[in-house]
Amino acid sequence: MQSDSLPAPLRILHLEDSQLDHDIVRQALRRAGMPCELERVESLDAFVRQVQVSDFDVVLADYRLPGFTALDAWEALQAIPQPPPFILLSGAIGEAAAVDAIKLGMSDYLLKDDLGKLAHVIQRAIDVQQAKRERERAVEELAASEQRMARFAEHLQTSIEQERAAIAREIHDDIGGSLAAIQFDLSWIGRHHADAETQGHVQAATGMLQHAVGASQRIMMNLRPAILDQGLEAAIDWLAAEFERRTGVRTLVRITLREPALPKNMQLTAYRTAQEALTNISKHARCREVRVELSDAERVLTLEITDNGQGIQPPERDKATAFGLKGLQERARTAGGWLDVSSRPGEGTSITLSIPLTIEAKG
Ligand SMILES: Nc1ncnc2c1ncn2[C@@H]1O[C@H](COP(=O)(O)OP(=O)(O)O)[C@@H](O)[C@H]1O
Ligand SMILES: [Mg+2]
Repeated sequence: MQSDSLPAPLRILHLEDSQLDHDIVRQALRRAGMPCELERVESLDAFVRQVQVSDFDVVLADYRLPGFTALDAWEALQAIPQPPPFILLSGAIGEAAAVDAIKLGMSDYLLKDDLGKLAHVIQRAIDVQQAKRERERAVEELAASEQRMARFAEHLQTSIEQERAAIAREIHDDIGGSLAAIQFDLSWIGRHHADAETQGHVQAATGMLQHAVGASQRIMMNLRPAILDQGLEAAIDWLAAEFERRTGVRTLVRITLREPALPKNMQLTAYRTAQEALTNISKHARCREVRVELSDAERVLTLEITDNGQGIQPPERDKATAFGLKGLQERARTAGGWLDVSSRPGEGTSITLSIPLTIEAKG
Protein backbone atom coordinates (compact mmCIF):
# COMPACT_ATOMS: atom_id res chain seq x y z
CA MET A 1 0.00 0.00 0.00
CA GLN A 2 1.17 3.51 -0.87
CA SER A 3 1.08 6.13 1.82
CA ASP A 4 -0.57 9.40 0.71
CA SER A 5 2.55 11.44 1.26
CA LEU A 6 4.64 9.50 -1.25
CA PRO A 7 4.51 10.71 -4.85
CA ALA A 8 2.66 8.35 -7.18
CA PRO A 9 5.10 6.04 -8.97
CA LEU A 10 5.95 7.12 -12.50
CA ARG A 11 4.32 5.07 -15.21
CA ILE A 12 6.99 4.17 -17.74
CA LEU A 13 6.49 2.34 -21.02
CA HIS A 14 9.64 0.61 -22.20
CA LEU A 15 9.90 -0.30 -25.88
CA GLU A 16 12.61 -2.97 -25.78
CA ASP A 17 13.01 -6.38 -27.41
CA SER A 18 15.51 -7.68 -24.87
CA GLN A 19 14.14 -8.86 -21.53
CA LEU A 20 17.67 -8.64 -20.11
CA ASP A 21 18.08 -4.98 -21.06
CA HIS A 22 14.67 -4.26 -19.59
CA ASP A 23 15.67 -5.88 -16.28
CA ILE A 24 18.85 -3.81 -16.22
CA VAL A 25 16.85 -0.62 -16.65
CA ARG A 26 14.50 -1.71 -13.85
CA GLN A 27 17.49 -2.25 -11.58
CA ALA A 28 19.06 1.08 -12.50
CA LEU A 29 15.89 2.94 -11.58
CA ARG A 30 15.49 0.98 -8.35
CA ARG A 31 19.08 1.82 -7.43
CA ALA A 32 18.42 5.50 -8.16
CA GLY A 33 15.41 5.36 -5.79
CA MET A 34 12.92 6.38 -8.48
CA PRO A 35 9.49 4.91 -7.67
CA CYS A 36 8.05 3.65 -10.92
CA GLU A 37 5.89 1.09 -12.66
CA LEU A 38 7.67 -0.24 -15.73
CA GLU A 39 5.93 -1.99 -18.55
CA ARG A 40 7.69 -3.59 -21.50
CA VAL A 41 6.40 -3.93 -25.07
CA GLU A 42 8.40 -5.10 -28.05
CA SER A 43 6.23 -4.82 -31.14
CA LEU A 44 4.98 -1.60 -32.74
CA ASP A 45 1.37 -2.83 -32.51
CA ALA A 46 1.66 -3.51 -28.80
CA PHE A 47 3.28 -0.12 -28.28
CA VAL A 48 0.49 1.73 -30.10
CA ARG A 49 -2.18 -0.23 -28.22
CA GLN A 50 -0.58 0.53 -24.86
CA VAL A 51 -0.23 4.28 -25.41
CA GLN A 52 -3.82 4.41 -26.60
CA VAL A 53 -5.36 2.59 -23.64
CA SER A 54 -3.31 4.00 -20.77
CA ASP A 55 -1.50 7.15 -19.72
CA PHE A 56 2.26 6.98 -19.33
CA ASP A 57 4.50 9.61 -17.78
CA VAL A 58 7.37 8.76 -20.09
CA VAL A 59 8.39 6.42 -22.91
CA LEU A 60 11.83 4.80 -23.09
CA ALA A 61 12.63 3.33 -26.48
CA ASP A 62 15.40 1.23 -27.90
CA TYR A 63 16.44 2.48 -31.33
CA ARG A 64 16.51 -0.66 -33.46
CA LEU A 65 13.74 -3.22 -32.94
CA PRO A 66 12.68 -6.22 -35.01
CA GLY A 67 11.14 -4.79 -38.20
CA PHE A 68 10.97 -1.14 -37.11
CA THR A 69 12.85 1.63 -35.32
CA ALA A 70 12.13 4.10 -32.56
CA LEU A 71 11.31 6.65 -35.28
CA ASP A 72 8.22 4.63 -36.26
CA ALA A 73 7.16 4.47 -32.62
CA TRP A 74 7.72 8.21 -32.24
CA GLU A 75 5.59 8.93 -35.27
CA ALA A 76 2.78 6.69 -34.01
CA LEU A 77 2.95 8.39 -30.62
CA GLN A 78 2.32 11.82 -32.16
CA ALA A 79 -1.18 10.69 -33.12
CA ILE A 80 -2.33 10.61 -29.50
CA PRO A 81 -3.27 13.87 -27.76
CA GLN A 82 -0.64 15.17 -25.32
CA PRO A 83 1.93 12.41 -25.89
CA PRO A 84 4.35 11.69 -23.02
CA PRO A 85 8.05 12.60 -23.33
CA PHE A 86 10.00 10.11 -25.44
CA ILE A 87 13.54 9.16 -24.50
CA LEU A 88 15.76 7.18 -26.82
CA LEU A 89 17.61 4.56 -24.77
CA SER A 90 19.81 2.45 -26.98
CA GLY A 91 23.27 1.23 -27.90
CA ALA A 92 25.40 3.53 -30.05
CA ILE A 93 23.37 4.79 -33.02
CA GLY A 94 25.79 7.39 -34.30
CA GLU A 95 25.75 11.11 -33.69
CA ALA A 96 23.80 11.96 -36.85
CA ALA A 97 20.88 9.67 -35.93
CA ALA A 98 20.86 11.01 -32.37
CA VAL A 99 20.80 14.63 -33.60
CA ASP A 100 17.97 13.75 -36.02
CA ALA A 101 15.99 12.20 -33.19
CA ILE A 102 16.29 15.30 -31.02
CA LYS A 103 15.46 17.54 -33.99
CA LEU A 104 12.27 15.54 -34.49
CA GLY A 105 11.27 16.57 -31.00
CA MET A 106 12.25 13.53 -28.93
CA SER A 107 13.06 14.56 -25.40
CA ASP A 108 16.50 13.06 -24.95
CA TYR A 109 18.96 10.38 -25.94
CA LEU A 110 20.88 8.15 -23.53
CA LEU A 111 23.30 5.31 -24.16
CA LYS A 112 22.57 1.98 -22.49
CA ASP A 113 26.11 2.14 -21.03
CA ASP A 114 25.13 5.26 -19.16
CA LEU A 115 22.17 4.02 -17.11
CA GLY A 116 23.47 5.76 -13.99
CA LYS A 117 22.04 8.95 -15.48
CA LEU A 118 18.66 7.48 -16.46
CA ALA A 119 16.63 8.65 -13.45
CA HIS A 120 17.98 12.15 -13.87
CA VAL A 121 17.28 12.19 -17.62
CA ILE A 122 13.70 10.97 -17.02
CA GLN A 123 13.06 13.61 -14.37
CA ARG A 124 14.42 16.34 -16.62
CA ALA A 125 12.29 15.22 -19.58
CA ILE A 126 9.17 15.24 -17.40
CA ASP A 127 10.00 18.69 -15.99
CA VAL A 128 10.60 20.12 -19.47
CA GLN A 129 7.35 18.62 -20.71
CA GLN A 130 5.43 20.03 -17.77
CA ALA A 131 6.89 23.50 -18.27
CA LYS A 132 5.97 23.31 -21.95
CA ARG A 133 2.38 22.29 -21.17
CA GLU A 134 2.05 25.10 -18.65
CA ARG A 135 3.35 27.56 -21.21
CA GLU A 136 0.87 26.28 -23.78
CA ARG A 137 -1.94 26.56 -21.27
CA ALA A 138 -0.93 30.12 -20.41
CA VAL A 139 -0.84 31.05 -24.11
CA GLU A 140 -4.28 29.47 -24.62
CA GLU A 141 -5.71 31.29 -21.62
CA LEU A 142 -4.27 34.56 -22.84
CA ALA A 143 -5.78 34.04 -26.28
CA ALA A 144 -9.15 33.18 -24.74
CA SER A 145 -9.03 36.24 -22.53
CA GLU A 146 -8.11 38.46 -25.47
CA GLN A 147 -11.03 37.02 -27.39
CA ARG A 148 -13.35 37.75 -24.46
CA MET A 149 -12.05 41.32 -24.35
CA ALA A 150 -12.57 41.74 -28.09
CA ARG A 151 -16.13 40.42 -27.82
CA PHE A 152 -16.77 42.73 -24.89
CA ALA A 153 -15.39 45.72 -26.79
CA GLU A 154 -17.60 44.83 -29.74
CA HIS A 155 -20.60 44.55 -27.47
CA LEU A 156 -19.80 47.93 -25.90
CA GLN A 157 -19.49 49.59 -29.28
CA THR A 158 -22.78 48.17 -30.45
CA SER A 159 -24.52 49.29 -27.25
CA ILE A 160 -22.99 52.74 -27.48
CA GLU A 161 -24.12 53.16 -31.08
CA GLN A 162 -27.62 51.93 -30.19
CA GLU A 163 -27.77 54.25 -27.19
CA ARG A 164 -26.62 57.18 -29.33
CA ALA A 165 -29.24 56.41 -31.96
CA ALA A 166 -31.92 56.25 -29.25
CA ILE A 167 -30.87 59.61 -27.77
CA ALA A 168 -30.82 61.16 -31.25
CA ARG A 169 -34.34 59.86 -31.83
CA GLU A 170 -35.56 61.37 -28.57
CA ILE A 171 -33.98 64.71 -29.34
CA HIS A 172 -35.61 64.62 -32.74
CA ASP A 173 -39.06 63.60 -31.53
CA ASP A 174 -39.26 65.47 -28.19
CA ILE A 175 -37.08 68.53 -28.48
CA GLY A 176 -37.48 68.87 -32.25
CA GLY A 177 -41.23 68.49 -31.91
CA SER A 178 -41.44 71.11 -29.15
CA LEU A 179 -39.25 73.57 -31.05
CA ALA A 180 -41.47 73.22 -34.10
CA ALA A 181 -44.53 73.90 -31.94
CA ILE A 182 -42.89 77.00 -30.41
CA GLN A 183 -42.04 78.21 -33.92
CA PHE A 184 -45.68 77.81 -34.88
CA ASP A 185 -46.91 79.79 -31.87
CA LEU A 186 -44.31 82.52 -32.31
CA SER A 187 -45.47 83.03 -35.90
CA TRP A 188 -49.04 83.23 -34.68
CA ILE A 189 -48.13 85.89 -32.10
CA GLY A 190 -46.16 87.79 -34.76
CA ARG A 191 -49.16 87.79 -37.07
CA HIS A 192 -51.68 88.89 -34.42
CA HIS A 193 -49.70 91.59 -32.58
CA ALA A 194 -48.41 94.31 -34.84
CA ASP A 195 -47.00 96.59 -32.13
CA ALA A 196 -43.26 97.21 -32.32
CA GLU A 197 -42.45 95.94 -28.83
CA THR A 198 -44.10 92.56 -29.38
CA GLN A 199 -42.54 92.28 -32.84
CA GLY A 200 -39.10 92.91 -31.27
CA HIS A 201 -39.63 90.11 -28.75
CA VAL A 202 -40.94 87.76 -31.42
CA GLN A 203 -37.87 88.42 -33.57
CA ALA A 204 -35.45 87.87 -30.68
CA ALA A 205 -37.24 84.66 -29.69
CA THR A 206 -37.22 83.45 -33.31
CA GLY A 207 -33.46 84.05 -33.51
CA MET A 208 -32.90 82.10 -30.32
CA LEU A 209 -35.16 79.36 -31.61
CA GLN A 210 -33.15 79.05 -34.83
CA HIS A 211 -30.06 78.71 -32.70
CA ALA A 212 -31.64 75.92 -30.63
CA VAL A 213 -32.81 74.12 -33.78
CA GLY A 214 -29.27 74.32 -35.22
CA ALA A 215 -27.73 73.09 -31.96
CA SER A 216 -30.07 70.11 -31.65
CA GLN A 217 -29.41 69.18 -35.27
CA ARG A 218 -25.68 69.33 -34.69
CA ILE A 219 -25.98 67.20 -31.56
CA MET A 220 -28.13 64.66 -33.41
CA MET A 221 -25.62 64.56 -36.22
CA ASN A 222 -22.80 63.74 -33.79
CA LEU A 223 -24.89 61.12 -32.05
CA ARG A 224 -26.14 59.36 -35.14
CA PRO A 225 -24.56 60.49 -38.34
CA ALA A 226 -27.65 60.67 -40.56
CA ILE A 227 -25.32 61.96 -43.26
CA LEU A 228 -24.06 58.36 -43.54
CA ASP A 229 -27.38 57.56 -45.19
CA GLN A 230 -26.01 59.50 -48.15
CA GLY A 231 -22.89 57.30 -48.24
CA LEU A 232 -19.42 57.38 -46.73
CA GLU A 233 -18.07 59.86 -49.24
CA ALA A 234 -20.68 62.48 -48.39
CA ALA A 235 -20.23 61.87 -44.68
CA ILE A 236 -16.43 62.27 -44.74
CA ASP A 237 -16.77 65.38 -46.92
CA TRP A 238 -19.23 66.84 -44.44
CA LEU A 239 -17.00 66.02 -41.44
CA ALA A 240 -13.99 67.65 -43.10
CA ALA A 241 -15.96 70.75 -44.12
CA GLU A 242 -17.38 71.12 -40.59
CA PHE A 243 -13.89 70.70 -39.15
CA GLU A 244 -12.48 73.38 -41.46
CA ARG A 245 -15.32 75.75 -40.69
CA ARG A 246 -14.97 75.29 -36.94
CA THR A 247 -11.17 75.40 -36.64
CA GLY A 248 -10.08 77.45 -39.65
CA VAL A 249 -7.45 74.78 -40.42
CA ARG A 250 -7.06 74.12 -44.15
CA THR A 251 -8.46 70.66 -44.83
CA LEU A 252 -7.82 68.81 -48.09
CA VAL A 253 -9.99 65.85 -48.94
CA ARG A 254 -9.32 63.22 -51.60
CA ILE A 255 -11.79 60.40 -52.02
CA THR A 256 -11.67 57.63 -54.62
CA LEU A 257 -14.30 55.00 -53.89
CA ARG A 258 -15.25 52.45 -56.53
CA GLU A 259 -17.19 49.98 -54.40
CA PRO A 260 -20.81 51.11 -54.63
CA ALA A 261 -22.13 49.68 -51.37
CA LEU A 262 -19.74 49.31 -48.46
CA PRO A 263 -21.13 47.40 -45.47
CA LYS A 264 -22.86 49.74 -42.98
CA ASN A 265 -20.64 48.69 -40.10
CA MET A 266 -17.52 49.44 -42.13
CA GLN A 267 -18.83 52.88 -43.04
CA LEU A 268 -19.60 53.66 -39.42
CA THR A 269 -16.11 52.50 -38.37
CA ALA A 270 -14.51 54.79 -40.98
CA TYR A 271 -16.76 57.67 -39.98
CA ARG A 272 -16.04 57.34 -36.26
CA THR A 273 -12.33 57.04 -36.99
CA ALA A 274 -12.34 60.26 -39.00
CA GLN A 275 -14.42 61.95 -36.31
CA GLU A 276 -12.04 61.01 -33.48
CA ALA A 277 -8.92 61.78 -35.53
CA LEU A 278 -10.24 65.26 -36.39
CA THR A 279 -11.30 65.87 -32.78
CA ASN A 280 -7.78 64.87 -31.68
CA ILE A 281 -6.30 67.27 -34.21
CA SER A 282 -8.41 70.15 -32.95
CA LYS A 283 -7.54 69.30 -29.34
CA HIS A 284 -3.87 68.38 -29.57
CA ALA A 285 -2.15 68.91 -32.93
CA ARG A 286 -1.71 72.70 -33.36
CA CYS A 287 -1.34 72.26 -37.10
CA ARG A 288 -1.81 74.40 -40.20
CA GLU A 289 -3.08 71.76 -42.56
CA VAL A 290 -4.93 68.45 -42.56
CA ARG A 291 -5.21 65.86 -45.32
CA VAL A 292 -8.01 63.32 -45.43
CA GLU A 293 -7.69 60.50 -47.94
CA LEU A 294 -10.21 57.76 -48.48
CA SER A 295 -9.90 55.01 -51.05
CA ASP A 296 -10.84 51.41 -51.71
CA ALA A 297 -8.00 50.62 -54.10
CA GLU A 298 -6.85 47.00 -54.17
CA ARG A 299 -9.93 45.96 -52.26
CA VAL A 300 -8.82 47.54 -49.01
CA LEU A 301 -10.77 50.44 -47.57
CA THR A 302 -8.10 52.90 -46.48
CA LEU A 303 -8.74 56.09 -44.55
CA GLU A 304 -5.74 58.26 -43.78
CA ILE A 305 -5.87 61.46 -41.76
CA THR A 306 -2.63 63.38 -41.60
CA ASP A 307 -1.79 66.64 -39.85
CA ASN A 308 1.40 68.68 -39.86
CA GLY A 309 1.20 69.56 -36.18
CA GLN A 310 3.36 68.91 -33.16
CA GLY A 311 3.09 65.11 -33.21
CA ILE A 312 2.37 62.73 -30.35
CA GLN A 313 4.86 62.51 -27.53
CA PRO A 314 5.48 58.76 -26.98
CA PRO A 315 4.34 58.75 -23.33
CA GLU A 316 1.13 60.60 -24.26
CA ARG A 317 0.01 57.92 -26.63
CA ASP A 318 -0.06 55.10 -24.09
CA LYS A 319 -1.33 57.05 -21.12
CA ALA A 320 -3.99 55.17 -19.21
CA THR A 321 -6.65 57.87 -19.49
CA ALA A 322 -6.58 58.15 -23.28
CA PHE A 323 -9.25 55.91 -24.77
CA GLY A 324 -9.72 57.62 -28.11
CA LEU A 325 -6.95 55.92 -30.06
CA LYS A 326 -7.31 52.64 -28.13
CA GLY A 327 -11.04 52.62 -28.90
CA LEU A 328 -10.31 53.18 -32.60
CA GLN A 329 -7.85 50.31 -32.55
CA GLU A 330 -10.47 47.97 -31.05
CA ARG A 331 -13.09 49.22 -33.46
CA ALA A 332 -10.82 48.58 -36.45
CA ARG A 333 -10.12 45.04 -35.25
CA THR A 334 -13.82 44.35 -34.73
CA ALA A 335 -14.45 45.40 -38.33
CA GLY A 336 -11.75 42.97 -39.51
CA GLY A 337 -9.09 45.63 -40.08
CA TRP A 338 -6.34 47.48 -38.25
CA LEU A 339 -5.26 50.99 -37.31
CA ASP A 340 -1.78 52.46 -37.65
CA VAL A 341 -0.74 55.54 -35.77
CA SER A 342 2.47 57.05 -36.98
CA SER A 343 3.81 60.22 -35.48
CA ARG A 344 7.08 62.02 -34.90
CA PRO A 345 7.36 64.83 -32.39
CA GLY A 346 7.40 68.07 -34.35
CA GLU A 347 6.49 66.45 -37.65
CA GLY A 348 2.81 65.72 -37.36
CA THR A 349 0.63 62.66 -37.02
CA SER A 350 -0.92 60.22 -39.40
CA ILE A 351 -3.77 57.87 -38.52
CA THR A 352 -4.48 55.10 -41.03
CA LEU A 353 -7.44 52.76 -40.92
CA SER A 354 -7.33 49.73 -43.23
CA ILE A 355 -10.15 47.23 -43.70
CA PRO A 356 -9.93 44.52 -46.37
CA LEU A 357 -13.15 44.46 -48.37
CA THR A 358 -13.05 40.71 -48.80
CA ILE A 359 -13.83 40.25 -45.12
CA GLU A 360 -17.57 40.59 -44.80
CA ALA A 361 -18.10 43.10 -41.98
CA LYS A 362 -20.97 42.48 -39.61
CA GLY A 363 -24.02 44.69 -39.49
N1 LIG B 1 -3.16 64.54 -33.98
C1 LIG B 1 -2.50 64.58 -32.79
N2 LIG B 1 -1.48 65.45 -32.59
C2 LIG B 1 -0.81 65.50 -31.42
N3 LIG B 1 -1.08 64.70 -30.37
C3 LIG B 1 -2.09 63.82 -30.49
C4 LIG B 1 -2.84 63.69 -31.69
N4 LIG B 1 -3.76 62.71 -31.52
C5 LIG B 1 -3.58 62.25 -30.27
N5 LIG B 1 -2.56 62.91 -29.63
C6 LIG B 1 -2.01 62.62 -28.29
O1 LIG B 1 -2.31 61.27 -27.99
C7 LIG B 1 -3.06 61.20 -26.80
C8 LIG B 1 -4.06 60.07 -26.88
O2 LIG B 1 -5.14 60.39 -27.76
P1 LIG B 1 -6.59 59.82 -27.44
O3 LIG B 1 -6.43 58.37 -27.19
O4 LIG B 1 -7.50 60.22 -28.53
O5 LIG B 1 -6.97 60.49 -26.06
P2 LIG B 1 -7.60 61.94 -25.72
O6 LIG B 1 -7.87 62.64 -27.02
O7 LIG B 1 -8.83 61.62 -24.97
O8 LIG B 1 -6.57 62.65 -24.88
C9 LIG B 1 -3.68 62.56 -26.64
O9 LIG B 1 -3.92 62.86 -25.29
C10 LIG B 1 -2.65 63.47 -27.22
O10 LIG B 1 -1.64 63.77 -26.27
MG1 LIG C 1 -9.08 61.71 -28.46
